[in-house]
Amino acid sequence: MGFGVLGVFLGLLLEVSTHGPHSVPRTSWKRQDLDLLEFSEPGIFNYSTLLLSEERDALYVGARDAIFELNKRNVTVRNQKVQWKVAEHPMVMCTRKGKSRERDCPNYIRVLQIVDDKRLYICGTHAFQPQCDYLNLADFSLEGRPEDGRGKCSFDPSQSFTAVMVDGDLYSGTAYNFLGSEPIISRYSPSYPLLRTEYSTSWLNEPSFVFADVIRAEKHRGDGEDDKIYYFFTEVSVEYEFFGKLLIPRVARVCKGDLGGERTLQKKWTSFLKAKLVCSMPELNFVFNVVHDVFILKGRDWRDTVFYGVFTSQWGNVGLSAVCAYNMTAVEEVFSKGKYMQKATVEQSHTKWVRYNGIPPSPRPGACISNQLRQHNISSSLHLPDKTLQFVRDHPLLEDPVLPIGNRPRLITKDVNYTQIVVERVQALDGNIYDVIFTGTDKGVLHKSVVFEEDVHIVEEIQLLKNSEPIKNLLLSSETRSVYAGSDSGVIQSPTAFCGKYSTCDDCVLARDPYCAWDPNAAACVCILDVPKEQLRSLIQSLSGDADICPPVSSVSLKDYQKVLVKPGSSAELPCMVNSNLAHVMWKSNNTLLDEASRFHFIGENGLLIYSVAPEDQGDYQCWSVEWAPSAGKNFSRLLAGYTLKLDLPPGPPARTNRLATTVRSQETSSVLPAEGNGKTERQPLTSASFTSTVLLTSPPQTDPSLTPPPSGTVRLQPSRNIPANSVIPRPDSQDPAAEYLQHNNSVALLSLFLLFFLLFLAAMVYNCYMQYLPAPCLRLRATLLGSNKCTHQPEYRACEAGLMEASAAEKINMTEQPAQNGSQPTKNLQALRDTGYETEPECGNGRLPSHNFGGDSSSQEKPFDVDCDSQSIQFADADDAY
Ligand SMILES: *[C@@H]1O[C@H](CO)[C@@H](O)[C@H](O)[C@H]1NC(C)=O
Ligand SMILES: *[C@@H]1O[C@H](CO)[C@@H](O)[C@H](O)[C@H]1NC(C)=O
Ligand SMILES: *[C@@H]1O[C@H](CO)[C@@H](O)[C@H](O)[C@H]1NC(C)=O
Ligand SMILES: *[C@@H]1O[C@H](CO)[C@@H](O)[C@H](O)[C@H]1NC(C)=O
Ligand SMILES: *[C@@H]1O[C@H](CO)[C@@H](O)[C@H](O)[C@H]1NC(C)=O
Ligand SMILES: *[C@@H]1O[C@H](CO)[C@@H](O)[C@H](O)[C@H]1NC(C)=O
Ligand SMILES: *[C@@H]1O[C@H](CO)[C@@H](O)[C@H](O)[C@H]1NC(C)=O
Repeated sequence: MGFGVLGVFLGLLLEVSTHGPHSVPRTSWKRQDLDLLEFSEPGIFNYSTLLLSEERDALYVGARDAIFELNKRNVTVRNQKVQWKVAEHPMVMCTRKGKSRERDCPNYIRVLQIVDDKRLYICGTHAFQPQCDYLNLADFSLEGRPEDGRGKCSFDPSQSFTAVMVDGDLYSGTAYNFLGSEPIISRYSPSYPLLRTEYSTSWLNEPSFVFADVIRAEKHRGDGEDDKIYYFFTEVSVEYEFFGKLLIPRVARVCKGDLGGERTLQKKWTSFLKAKLVCSMPELNFVFNVVHDVFILKGRDWRDTVFYGVFTSQWGNVGLSAVCAYNMTAVEEVFSKGKYMQKATVEQSHTKWVRYNGIPPSPRPGACISNQLRQHNISSSLHLPDKTLQFVRDHPLLEDPVLPIGNRPRLITKDVNYTQIVVERVQALDGNIYDVIFTGTDKGVLHKSVVFEEDVHIVEEIQLLKNSEPIKNLLLSSETRSVYAGSDSGVIQSPTAFCGKYSTCDDCVLARDPYCAWDPNAAACVCILDVPKEQLRSLIQSLSGDADICPPVSSVSLKDYQKVLVKPGSSAELPCMVNSNLAHVMWKSNNTLLDEASRFHFIGENGLLIYSVAPEDQGDYQCWSVEWAPSAGKNFSRLLAGYTLKLDLPPGPPARTNRLATTVRSQETSSVLPAEGNGKTERQPLTSASFTSTVLLTSPPQTDPSLTPPPSGTVRLQPSRNIPANSVIPRPDSQDPAAEYLQHNNSVALLSLFLLFFLLFLAAMVYNCYMQYLPAPCLRLRATLLGSNKCTHQPEYRACEAGLMEASAAEKINMTEQPAQNGSQPTKNLQALRDTGYETEPECGNGRLPSHNFGGDSSSQEKPFDVDCDSQSIQFADADDAY
């Protein structure tokens, strides 16, 4: 079967991963470059539940067996801590059920919600017997009257879970039993009985809960609409037939005023409806079908509310993550007007979901109570007619999907798995409002992206966590201008922008960060939120990245170039760091572009390496960064460094190879630079700033008589690349090492990808051959190998239909391989039909075209069913078409 499908799928993957749209972060910050604030306590892990309190200036953190109150402005400051451990008896019960004391049975705090200004509501997994309690904020103590937490919190700490407290009621999505097999979406309210979902696969089918939040109704609209709680999860689809489990991202919603039905749907939601979330690349037909997190960006106006979701594909090895945005109006539209789906039984036991084409009962099933219903004396869900309730019980799924804004992802990124998302709206100096997306990955990295009208730009990536572990939770506070990330090992606080890290106007503008602008008076890149309103006018910002608006920098004069003295035959290293991943480095010598192929040069990530310096290498060297700004449609070149290379010729005091042990930004590099046997010249840190602002420090090489330099040095420009000491490399005819280095990574990845697909293709081929889905030559092989002989010489197409041609057919193949010998054996193109449920495969054999010879040889007309299996096109079609 799946040959064609598999082929299409493989082709698609290849296409997506090589040509698909995706973005690269412009700047990559390392942890040590930044001042991040970090909190963790020894022996305590799983800091995965976070809650910000604007009133109390606090960040509450739920970890394993403990709850903390941290200072929101500086998370290294711990204000309060309370422990909530599992007592010995429940612990023993937990371990008796086969759970691990260390891993499963501790009390993982999963619910942290604000009840009022004095209390928090807290639930923990508590040795697979979830419990909830109130936490007094005054003295940070638990009330000590634990409530049953079943349905409010998961039993298993590793299971998906979501909860939100709205007006004192807790809405959660979790599992209701020990095994985790009974999913529910429920509401716990002090004043009403528990309300929950039906236990049915049409309501929830193995869901992974991701997020829930309330969207308040617009009071001023005057339609008496209810507040609604939206749930986001991924579940196993019921509506698609698929080999294996096909996951589908969903948005579901319930109404806050729901009280359940009177007879039908007693104590169950009468307003539970769900729809499919679509996040796909239409032009490639590629679908992101697993949602990991959702952020609701609430606008001033209700219509400005946007849901942002991060998605990956179920086939995680594709290595693509996407961010899709959904318009609140579009979501409401689907829930209030969408068509329902219904279960239909086909062929006795088999069921299928199809669109419900009848007229649904009135009032609309699943609708919230509004003024319109109240006029009909339906003032609560208890008054809803049975017909409506029965219908919504059996039809919780809507057919219409929720489509993303612009019908495509906002952002697609390669080789990352996004786990978390937060979004902030920023008004830039051009007056426009931009959505800045922060996404956390499963490797502890944070990406910051800006959505522009025509493109999306990843401003920076930040290594937030020490270890490569997932970011489990992400919060944003506009007030403290910080992003908070929770992980298994700790809590990290990071500023939303690093404007001060851009040392030149060009860099500040090319970053295209709406938070940052260049202050020409202070000659610094500043955060616009720090600047008083009246001074904003003087700042320079261009979000298209047009660095031409920057004031011209006085060019570095030749005499300011760093002097480099090198002994003949030794090597020289000229450092040059580019901190933009979108820029590429260009070296010029004597105003001509350095060509790696012709000279003995190696242009690496951190600078230029000249092997075994000869007299003709003397001269001026300039390092340029060329950055393409797509929105501005221009290249911007910046001079990053300048050097004057001179030979240190004998006679004279023992001269030394002058290697520049300049402190470059990368730690590894600077630790590697003072290579063995070579002296070094201490210099000021070399940054793009020190050159373009002409702060060039030139100090004469210091001589150290105790060291006698070897004729050629050991140089490690790339940490991974080690040129052995004293190796004499033949000059012109040697392979260009730079070229090799530059292509290495890509080609290996491509080659392995190609190999993988080739193997998959082979496997598919063999499988299809074995299953008899492929025509002639393969079948001949199969026949030879298996030696079966089912098909007889009977001139009947059924023979082909049943088992296709086997041994007998193999004989005929010999004839057709000398194509239709002078037409003496005309064949009719009858169709051999097989019920495979898959599409038409037009080929018959290895690219041979089916013969359409209707030429009037009488013999063929006499034998209308004399079918030559080999020359037929084999159609894979539905059985219905066969008869
Ligand atoms: C945060 O608090 C720590 C400990 O009190 C202090 O050392 C540090 O300077 C503070 N950092 C900031 C940015 O306020
Ligand atoms: C808790 O943290 C530990 C240590 O980092 C980790 O191994 C474990 O998977 C975490 N458990 C959960 C449920 O997140
Ligand atoms: C959402 O759609 C509505 C109606 O089409 C439109 O008025 C509104 O501006 C859209 N909002 C966003 C954020 O796109
Ligand atoms: C609603 O109830 C009131 C009082 O019980 C009654 O007078 C009225 O006719 C009812 N309206 C409808 C539309 O049933
Ligand atoms: C993304 O996650 C999948 C599944 O967990 C894993 O196989 C894949 O290696 C991850 N990819 C990256 C780039 O981290
Ligand atoms: C640069 O020019 C000088 C003199 O004009 C010449 O001696 C030297 O070889 C040139 N260097 C390079 C690298 O072209
Ligand atoms: C910009 O620079 C790149 C790299 O040097 C070059 O390939 C490209 O053609 C340039 N584009 C324009 C418009 O100058």
